[in-house]
Amino acid sequence: MAKVISLINQKGGVGKTASTNAISACLKHKGFKVLCVDFDPQGYLSFSMGADTREHSTIYDVLKHNIKARYAIQKSNVVDIIPADALLGNVEREFTGPGTEHMLRDCLKTVAPLYDYILIDSPPELGLLSANAVIASDIVLIPGLSDGYSLQGIIQVHETILRIKQAFNPTLVIGGIFLVRYYPREALSKTTKETAQLLAAHLNIPLLDTTIRHSNIISKAMTTLQKDIVDYAPKNNAVLDYVALVDELFERGIF
Ligand SMILES: Nc1ncnc2c1ncn2[C@@H]1O[C@H](COP(=O)(O)OP(=O)(O)OP(=O)(O)O)[C@@H](O)[C@H]1O
Ligand SMILES: [Mg+2]
Repeated sequence: MAKVISLINQKGGVGKTASTNAISACLKHKGFKVLCVDFDPQGYLSFSMGADTREHSTIYDVLKHNIKARYAIQKSNVVDIIPADALLGNVEREFTGPGTEHMLRDCLKTVAPLYDYILIDSPPELGLLSANAVIASDIVLIPGLSDGYSLQGIIQVHETILRIKQAFNPTLVIGGIFLVRYYPREALSKTTKETAQLLAAHLNIPLLDTTIRHSNIISKAMTTLQKDIVDYAPKNNAVLDYVALVDELFERGIF
């Protein structure tokens, strides 16, 4: 039965999608069967993996019960994926009322036995889509930028996750915060890490030791490359960091 992991932060541009892509690739290279679910109407994860959303069904079709989840799975250049496109943005308007928070969890039940890990990329909001992602998950991870400002939003994400955990998903594990776009030689990155340490201690959640260094390979992977970055650039600093991050998550017993 797959462990379901979602990356959550209402702030945009903090590395949710890049990390979903990279962590999936790392897990695949460890020999695990991995499925990604793009749960962001921006569809960047789908694009980054070279998935097709014109001819193929998306997670929106699955939520609408037009197709079963397993038939919406595509083999991409990185791992299997159920892609998303802008139609997913209709969900908030089309689905209202009780039970709408569980839609994704219900849809993924039949595919969970086929995989070791399912990773969900979520949009920069704390609305119905992110709530669905958290409720469908066993573990949430909170990426943050190494710039100080992005830490401010973490208290709010954490509060939201806790509220959803208490109401709908008591066994949810908050795997921790990790910092991306880290510049090891810059004072701002170091200060941010120290502040993040205090914040994590205050919230009683882990700050993962591994930070993801800034590297242009990551932006390339998200735009033009559409390839498995562990295959493409195994020695790249950010790729090595993602490998180390996944190792740390195993060592801590979170994965
Ligand atoms: N380690 C890194 N080094 C360099 N660039 C990075 C790194 N991680 C992410 N980026 C770049 O930062 C930008 C934001 O990353 P990403 O799209 O993963 O954030 P996000 O949280 O998913 O944003 P959104 O909330 O809009 O979906 C992207 O252009 C991505 O390529
Ligand atoms: Mg994203």
